[in-house]
Amino acid sequence: MARGRERRPARLNAAPLSLCVESVGAGGDGIALHDGVRHFVPLALPGETVRAMPVLRSAEGVRCRLESVETPSPRRVAPFCPAFGRCGGCAFQHWEAADLAAWKRTRLLAALSHRGFADAPVAETLSCPARTRRRATLALKGKKLGFREEASHAVAAIDACPVLLPQLSALIAPLRAVLAPLTADAAVALAWTDSGADVLVRCADEPGWEGREALAAFARAHDLARLAWDSGFGAAPLAVERPPAMIFGGVSVAFPDAAFLQPSAEGEAALRDAVLAATEGVSALADLFCGLGTFALPLAARGARVLALDADGAAVAALAAAAKAAPGLAVAARDLFREPLSAAEMRGLDAVVFDPPRAGAQVQARAIAASAVPLAVAVSCNPASFARDARILADGGFRLVSALPVDQFPLSPHLEVVAVFRR
Ligand SMILES: C[S@@+](CC[C@H](N)C(=O)[O-])C[C@H]1O[C@@H](n2cnc3c(N)ncnc32)[C@H](O)[C@@H]1O
Repeated sequence: MARGRERRPARLNAAPLSLCVESVGAGGDGIALHDGVRHFVPLALPGETVRAMPVLRSAEGVRCRLESVETPSPRRVAPFCPAFGRCGGCAFQHWEAADLAAWKRTRLLAALSHRGFADAPVAETLSCPARTRRRATLALKGKKLGFREEASHAVAAIDACPVLLPQLSALIAPLRAVLAPLTADAAVALAWTDSGADVLVRCADEPGWEGREALAAFARAHDLARLAWDSGFGAAPLAVERPPAMIFGGVSVAFPDAAFLQPSAEGEAALRDAVLAATEGVSALADLFCGLGTFALPLAARGARVLALDADGAAVAALAAAAKAAPGLAVAARDLFREPLSAAEMRGLDAVVFDPPRAGAQVQARAIAASAVPLAVAVSCNPASFARDARILADGGFRLVSALPVDQFPLSPHLEVVAVFRR
């Protein structure tokens, strides 16, 4: 449909329907056809008959609310969290792990096939354990602290979250208590660093003296590494017990406020090991979209010369400081969307590793395709933008040698991939 003629989503006031769910869509919802229109039903599985209330019509189809499961799938399992279904933090706790892993692999195959890769060499999904998440952002609205409800701005209050590391989950109820005096909405970012918990509260309300004392006492009582506050003018620390830091490749890197961190230590290890395996024997390479050096530092520790680039000034400064302990590592700030590393700059490199944000690395992929680099390793959290970039590399003469789906967001529809391209 032409963009200008797209229908605006319309609220529906319809009666519940009995629907047969055929598949699970990219967003994690069950999909059923009714009168030739796709109906999306959260928490419904293939093969199930469900009773569902249509709530919103859009160009994609009709979004429904699950009322009840009339014929459950034999692959349905009991969720392990009492908030599942109410809290929008997880899309899947009701599906056999093996089915979920297979579905994620199929999504990657479909994205690649859509870009013309028939029979792509996609490995079985490497699944990370579910209860190991080391970063999350909670919303505080009224007195409720938790994740947003499914397809809503409302917050589903939780006291704990079994998907998070227990050390972070244990902070939720006490955080709600210490933040109770706030009148404005807030976002609370939690990260488990190698120095302990790092908590950043984003809220337009500035804590007064009493509030600051209560927050500092909270930080001490819960042994936080750092508690910082951002009222819209940048984060300022309220309490620093130990400067938060991460260790990559044996080197400690200061952890800036709200810096990027792979969602679990297990996920990070899976990606790093795949990148290290793909670049075995490589002596000079670029790590593009390097963040804090998750790959660059282990690569440098192995003796390679590494050029690490990222647009995040705070991350680059932290990695540059850490690079003093990592001979062979050069670090610079660069917006790789506007100014990709050029084919000429890649001359002499044996490999390029790139790990862009969800939008992918279209412009950078074009530069890699135009270069003489013999090996490219793509790490991506978005199968669609990854497949688009893979097509650019393939059209530039690269062969997709392997793609490893890594499920490091095991209860969500998201998927990570590490792919190796050679000339
Ligand atoms: C998925 S993270 C990967 C970071 C790192 N490779 C890691 O594993 O921790 C994506 C990174 O892309 C960086 N980034 C986002 N937009 C960028 C741009 N236009 N140019 C360069 N880097 C960018 C972010 O700062 C972030 O560090």
